[in-house]
Amino acid sequence: MDNKTFLSDLTATFNTFYASEALVDHLTQSIQYSLNSGGKRIRPLFLLETLQGFEITITTAHFKVAAAVELIHTSSLIHDDLPAMDDDDFRRGQATNHKVYGEAQAILAGDALLLDPYLLLAESGLPAQDIVALVAELAYASGSHGMVAGQVLDMDGEQHSLTFEALKQIHALKTGRMLTFPFVAAGIIAHQSADVLVLLRALGEKVGQAFQIRDDILDVTATFDQLGKTPGKDITADKSTYVKLLGLSGAKAALAENLADATQLLTEISDQTQMTSDTILRQIERLRID
Ligand code: IPE
Ligand code: IPE
Ligand code: MG
Ligand code: MG
Ligand code: MG
Repeated sequence: MDNKTFLSDLTATFNTFYASEALVDHLTQSIQYSLNSGGKRIRPLFLLETLQGFEITITTAHFKVAAAVELIHTSSLIHDDLPAMDDDDFRRGQATNHKVYGEAQAILAGDALLLDPYLLLAESGLPAQDIVALVAELAYASGSHGMVAGQVLDMDGEQHSLTFEALKQIHALKTGRMLTFPFVAAGIIAHQSADVLVLLRALGEKVGQAFQIRDDILDVTATFDQLGKTPGKDITADKSTYVKLLGLSGAKAALAENLADATQLLTEISDQTQMTSDTILRQIERLRID
């Protein structure tokens, strides 16, 4: 399967999941508004590409796992944009969820998107043991051990000077964990050894770190049209970012270093498992900024 098929089958998975007439219409409408507003879907793509790299035949079950991580990501963005958090009016070139549906509805759409993934996993049809491992990994990535904790620390970092180590930890939690899930989840589904899972986790951590550094760089260098969200938000909020701590060129160097580490880990994983890595490598290369 190619990326185009991955993307259309993923959208079909969302549509099927939210199609039931028994659901509350305006809730699913606000959920679908954010789910289908042009996100890059990098987390599901990493998962499906890694599975394919391990020569797993992609089935509906795998799309449900891929959908699960995208749902949580979407939830994190809806909440991240709320007035109480980053207070953003635009996301992916469109009005943010709360601007269209109101704050209460946006909070609740985000809540549903945090919980629905566990229904998708539970009914995926994968072996029960794999589902238990995936549930644990997804909860670890997203809750008080992961993304939500990172978002709390990120808010604390406004108007404060953080150490470099503290900033790295925030990136690891708020962004890194959700980007680690796709690689580890693929390893779980492909029944890789504990040693390979360690390497996949390390790869996800490097990609996650790179991803947030890139986002922080683009916040100062890109335009609204390129981003689909308001640039300069981090400076306005006096957020602790790589750019604030290291300057633009320091942040670019850190991005390059994390991408180099990720590439090295990918090679190590391919050598150990015969995994095909070209599609994943191409995806990682797209994160580069010169
Ligand atoms: C944006 O994530 C938030 C960060 C973690 C930096 P993405 O850049 O993956 O957002 P979409 O889904 O493609 O819009
Ligand atoms: C968001 O970081 C990270 C999560 C949503 C977990 P940002 O606040 O930098 O993301 P953008 O720039 O609004 O997309
Ligand atoms: Mg934020
Ligand atoms: Mg934000
Ligand atoms: Mg940002």
